[in-house]
Amino acid sequence: MSVSVKRPARIQGSIDAPSDKSISHRAAIFNALASGSSEIQNFSASADCMSTLRCLRSLGARITATQTNPAPQNYTKTLKITGFGATGIREPENVLNAGNSGTTMRLLMGMLAANEINSVLTGDHSLRSRPMIREIRALRQMGAQIWARGDRSLPPISVKGEYLSGGRYTMPEASAQLKSTLLIAGLFSKQAITIDQPHISRDHSERMLAAMGASITSNELQLTIQPGQIQATDMRVPGDISSASFWLVLGLCHPESEITVRNVNINPSRAGFLQVIERMGGSIRITNQTTQSGEPVADLTATSSSLSGTTIEGAMIPLLIDELPILALAACFAKGQTQIKDASSLRVKETDRITTTTTELTRMGAQIKETTDGMIITGIKSLYGTTTSSHGDHRLAMTLGIAGMLADGETEIAYPGSTRISYPGFWDDLQVIAPGILDSNAN
Ligand code: S3P
Repeated sequence: MSVSVKRPARIQGSIDAPSDKSISHRAAIFNALASGSSEIQNFSASADCMSTLRCLRSLGARITATQTNPAPQNYTKTLKITGFGATGIREPENVLNAGNSGTTMRLLMGMLAANEINSVLTGDHSLRSRPMIREIRALRQMGAQIWARGDRSLPPISVKGEYLSGGRYTMPEASAQLKSTLLIAGLFSKQAITIDQPHISRDHSERMLAAMGASITSNELQLTIQPGQIQATDMRVPGDISSASFWLVLGLCHPESEITVRNVNINPSRAGFLQVIERMGGSIRITNQTTQSGEPVADLTATSSSLSGTTIEGAMIPLLIDELPILALAACFAKGQTQIKDASSLRVKETDRITTTTTELTRMGAQIKETTDGMIITGIKSLYGTTTSSHGDHRLAMTLGIAGMLADGETEIAYPGSTRISYPGFWDDLQVIAPGILDSNAN
């Protein structure tokens, strides 16, 4: 299966941002852990979030999911969740399968290690090649009994749960997943867990847990969570800035365009993309700012802009980690050089995104060089269409879809269906933004 896209002459369009994947995972997991019942609106129907629901059901959470939109646009769901609350987590009868989802596996590790049950967690081919060493080390330091394969601790992960001691942990790198693993473990520990972070990373867990009654204190880069019960809370998940960034880069780099993405989460710990685009000279207008379930949201409008190269490094990286492939594409259309540094964690995402992004954009004529911890891109203002592959990585599939809409000629993308991992409606939205430019070849 592949799709082909070409450049539309002009673009003028608007879409609703798809539901945020990170916040959807947390809304389901935290409400499953809580006492009482809750309703979650605008929950992401992405494959990753479905993996989270599957695992939570196997652990005894009662979850019903109704489709918000009619098929085939059934990309969000309304959930009703009755949490484990007072009854506790049920030992799963079978191996828990997190599919392609690193967030599912890591956050559940925190829950499983800190409850008195035995469990095994696995995932698909990609997830079984992703190291879980950071989470295993941190949980072991809190007293967890947890095992995995080889030096880098690859899944399957085997957990003999027990109440953890708590304590203090200094994170070796900024990671919202690792931080969230520890925050969840902290809810069930004998004593508080204190986490020292080297830099800020997305703070959705802290915001949501505090709103659900957890006792969390934070002092710049230090967070402390006390053990205790949380309360089920109704919420509405905002739109995903990582998914929105694809359309925004299209709007900026296409010479005749204006694209609005509505209802995007602009939480500062997540919106490094907007800061970098502003620095590159891109025009993104922010309107209709409001707050939704404790998260700031707004409508974002990108218009054709002349971009300049920049350096993206250090504390900025965790604020835009998932946007780096699409920012690398934007850099191809910028004047001068763009350097991405300190991003070696990209090598252990769904694919090695430094290598896959470099390989595929090079095929399209980009001047892009791989470094150990990033990329160096020299802007050349035009790419050409050719045959490319997503390597089964959702963010690469979408980056190549946008690249094809900016390139001369026609671009074929193999394995386009991987977009279902985070943004199942991506190819439909592409046809809303630019009707008539997509060809789907089911061979
Ligand atoms: C995520 C955190 C990031 C990100 C991932 C989702 C989260 O990973 O890349 O897609 O929901 O917490 P790291 O925590 O490994 O940086």
